[in-house]
Amino acid sequence: MNGRKQAPAPPACRLCAGPLHEWVDLGPQPVSNAFLRPEDVGRESIFRLAVGICADCTMVQQLEAMPTDSMFRADYPYRSRTSAGLRNHFEQVARWLHRDLLVRPGDLVVEIGSNDGVMLRTLAAAGVRHLGVDPSAGAAQAAAAAGVRVRVDFFDERSAQAIRAEEGAARVVFSANTISHVADIGTIFRGVDRLLAPDGVFVFEDRYVGDIVEHAYFDQIYDEHFYLFAVRSVAAMVARFGFDLVDVERIPIHGGSLRFTVVRPGAHERQPSVLKMIEDEARFGVAELDTYLRFGRQIDRIGGDLVALLTDLRDAGHRVVGYGATSKSATVTNYCGIGPDLVPFICDTTAEKQGRLSPGAHIPIRPHATFSDPYPDYALLFAWNHAEEIMAKERRFVEQGGRWILYVPHVHII
Ligand code: SAH
Ligand code: TYD
Ligand code: ZN
Repeated sequence: MNGRKQAPAPPACRLCAGPLHEWVDLGPQPVSNAFLRPEDVGRESIFRLAVGICADCTMVQQLEAMPTDSMFRADYPYRSRTSAGLRNHFEQVARWLHRDLLVRPGDLVVEIGSNDGVMLRTLAAAGVRHLGVDPSAGAAQAAAAAGVRVRVDFFDERSAQAIRAEEGAARVVFSANTISHVADIGTIFRGVDRLLAPDGVFVFEDRYVGDIVEHAYFDQIYDEHFYLFAVRSVAAMVARFGFDLVDVERIPIHGGSLRFTVVRPGAHERQPSVLKMIEDEARFGVAELDTYLRFGRQIDRIGGDLVALLTDLRDAGHRVVGYGATSKSATVTNYCGIGPDLVPFICDTTAEKQGRLSPGAHIPIRPHATFSDPYPDYALLFAWNHAEEIMAKERRFVEQGGRWILYVPHVHII
């Protein structure tokens, strides 16, 4: 015994129990979609938003999880259909599923996290047998109004078993921007195992950690993005749950995402895309702790630069307004300490968010009409992933002398 205290054991990976190395701590953060009524101030759930990488299976994940029942409630305000880009993307997805995978009469598709029916409405209109599963009753109601059948529930082993008993096996299980949200992800895969036909296909899309690091999209880190997926880490994860990753495709959604195709072992041949992307990832260092430590330092710089710019603009008497009350903006405002003194309000087209305060930072959310009434001098674009769509729509703002502020991949004005 040398009398020295032993270092505490590192926290364990949720998937393989390997050691997790923390590479960033974005501080105390609220539920990113919990837009509050003024009377709810002081009653927010807060957690420490820290991210690490597993030294064994390389999965990037948060160190502490916000409980899912605080995040996905009946009044969860996010609606996919507020963006034309997403409406168009998911219509294409539905057409592809229908043409290539749901080819036999009566084939069933189940979607995990169907939200407002952005994808399933196209299949419902085409008469395809479908079921959405989503705990957010408000979003499910919007889906139902478009003819989409939804089970208001969390997808897990229990609900999957019930669906299997009521509907039979699914030819396709689809999910977008949802399964990375579930810290206890085993319950998703065990559910898929119960539900999927022997030769069925599980397709899921999610943000790509390679793009997040490459473009410094640090605000993609928030409570809902518990896991940040790479091809290598997902291949290992699905194998752990008895599945095989047979295809992967890069898609431009949310600044860069991946579409994974997963089957039971032997059900379909593996495409060259999987190994090719794993090789690309090795060259880029997607599994290296150093890559993430560098990213952490870049996040620090961006935060400092953004606060300095907003402070200078305010002190010079300029008006700055936030554009898009995204979940991402919760990370930016709470990590940087940006409140209504620097950004007096955020405009957003989502009725469910208007009249509320942003989580943590308590910046008022106003309807889109307030943006031009009168136009501000600068607009801080929190919804940068919809930049093309928004900038095309807001040409007059720029014609009147307005400027956009972006903070990724670095703080700049255009
Ligand atoms: N698929 C849509 C919505 C993503 S938002 C899109 O890509 O735009 C995530 C959705 O997943 C929310 O509607 C949320 O209520 C739902 N969700 C979260 N956990 C879930 C779970 N365990 N099972 C099913 N849906 C879930
Ligand atoms: P999004 O970036 O899709 O999601 P996340 O919450 O995951 O970060 O959210 C876009 C937000 O911006 C959403 O609240 C709707 C709003 N928005 C507008 O106000 N105007 C627009 O033209 C678009 C495209 C989005
Ligand atoms: Zn691991």
